[in-house]
Amino acid sequence: MKCFIISALTTDGYIGRNSSHAAMWTSKEDKKRFVEITKRAGVMIMGLNTWKTLGKPLKDRLNIVYSPTPLPPVQGMETTMKSPAELLQELESRGFKEVAICGGSQIYTMFMKSGLVDTLYLTIEPIVFGDGIKLFKEELDFKLQLIDSTRTENGSLLTEYTVIR
Ligand SMILES: NC(=O)c1ccc[n+]([C@@H]2O[C@H](COP(=O)([O-])OP(=O)(O)OC[C@H]3O[C@@H](n4cnc5c(N)ncnc54)[C@H](OP(=O)(O)O)[C@@H]3O)[C@@H](O)[C@H]2O)c1
Repeated sequence: MKCFIISALTTDGYIGRNSSHAAMWTSKEDKKRFVEITKRAGVMIMGLNTWKTLGKPLKDRLNIVYSPTPLPPVQGMETTMKSPAELLQELESRGFKEVAICGGSQIYTMFMKSGLVDTLYLTIEPIVFGDGIKLFKEELDFKLQLIDSTRTENGSLLTEYTVIR
């Protein structure tokens, strides 16, 4: 089972100004790549704060939301409290071959810490917030290998890294 993180960062390393700040500030190239890669996976995992910024499930993908309490049923969305390992095992048994970890910081950190993430698709946007929510919120120790990077016309950097085991 492939498990990847997908995120857009400011040049100073933030994914949002605060927990309720929707990620609408990212480039059109980042949004296009996000749609392509998450549709390829077919399943997106996110935390409750990120879900609230969306307001509805992104179409053609199963949206799985980590929430401390079950959320009212919505077509295309499921709530979970499972550990990353349990959730990935369940999704594999349901036929998924890869899983997109879509934030925010709490969920990126939980999955990175679990050691199950093998790839990071990170877009570095030419914008600075100065303060806000970081990609990860706890101390981690991983080495990455840069696999691919593309500079867009507007100066965004689309990167792909693998986690070195
Ligand atoms: N730039 C990007 O690409 C990107 C992508 C996604 C999100 N974001 C940004 O990230 C920010 C939100 O991030 P965030 O870290 O504040 O929140 P988050 O990770 O989206 O969600 C946190 C929520 O998930 C719940 N949760 C976490 N682990 C859980 C578990 N094991 N079981 C059950 N529930 C669990 C938390 O519950 P508790 O309340 O019990 O702790 C909390 O309510 C927003 O600004 C958003 O725009 C940016």
